[in-house]
Amino acid sequence: MDLELIIKEIKEKLSNASSLQDLAALKPLYLGKKGAISQLMSNMKNLSIEERKTFGQQVNAIKTEAEDLFKTKEQELNDKLVSEKLAKETIDVTMPGVKFAAGSIHPLSQTIMDLEELYTSMGYEVAEGPELETDEYCFEKLNLPKGHPARDMQDTFYINPEWLLRSQTSPVQVRTMLEKKGKPIQIICPGKTYRRDQDDATHSHQFMQCEGLVLGKNITMADLKGALLEMAKKILGDDKEIRLRPSFFPFTEPSVEVDVSCVKCGGKGCSMCKNSGWIEVLGAGMVNDNVLRMCGYDPKEIQGFAFGIGIERITMLKYGIDDIRNFYSNDIRFLKQFKETK
Ligand code: PHE
Repeated sequence: MDLELIIKEIKEKLSNASSLQDLAALKPLYLGKKGAISQLMSNMKNLSIEERKTFGQQVNAIKTEAEDLFKTKEQELNDKLVSEKLAKETIDVTMPGVKFAAGSIHPLSQTIMDLEELYTSMGYEVAEGPELETDEYCFEKLNLPKGHPARDMQDTFYINPEWLLRSQTSPVQVRTMLEKKGKPIQIICPGKTYRRDQDDATHSHQFMQCEGLVLGKNITMADLKGALLEMAKKILGDDKEIRLRPSFFPFTEPSVEVDVSCVKCGGKGCSMCKNSGWIEVLGAGMVNDNVLRMCGYDPKEIQGFAFGIGIERITMLKYGIDDIRNFYSNDIRFLKQFKETK
């Protein structure tokens, strides 16, 4: 083939090549071992020595020119690729963002946060205790010796005769008293509790309580009432009232059950409050002298009160939830309803 023609043809083909793949397919046709230029070389053996020399030089020149042409084209295509990529990767900051499905705060967590906010603002500290407890802390030191009939009030998950899943948050009272060794105390302790209950609309084998314990000089039942009235107003609304009814707990004396004015009828009487105008929300009382003594406190020096709020109970009243199982079934439709709360 004519030498000049080869270059002309390469130029033409290269101008039509639009990708590196085209280039890779084209290159061996001219510069490969069996390509057009190598072919010319192999034709040289038919020439005289003189001719060979000039022809050889010409072919070499053509080869270099061809290589340069390919190199330039390759560079050009690479540059094009990079700028295309850059153009594609430009971030348009005015584009609307991708919407993520954000979760919402679980209503029980919200209640705990509200309780913590309220009580810490009143000087309480938030205490913690283990869910796996000893019989001693969960019962004995709370004035519930083995065989005491009041143990029947709480069906318990025992791990072995000494260890159990706590049936109440009250053992945190014991733990705190033993730790503070006779000094004043002002704590709440929200946490999980367990009882061997059959799950239904109002029972759950796992539920939550918020314990409260205040010990100091001259603490009275009036202080207890104030602490609980504030809670009722904060969680259930400013218009709420509470009343204390005599009750029994082995670890408090006197003991009370605390009712709040009905969230539905406001106290007039309706089906929800069985026409009484009141709804029971928690147990409380003045810490029993026996408990104080067993936990290292002198009842003549220091007294106080304790309470145990049912977290599910007040949350159900707050939002009008009628089945406790909703809290634990992880139904997204239930949970989504609480998105807008605070
Ligand atoms: N622990 C009691 C219960 O679970 C509630 C309570 C707590 C009562 C503190 C009095 C004082 O029923």
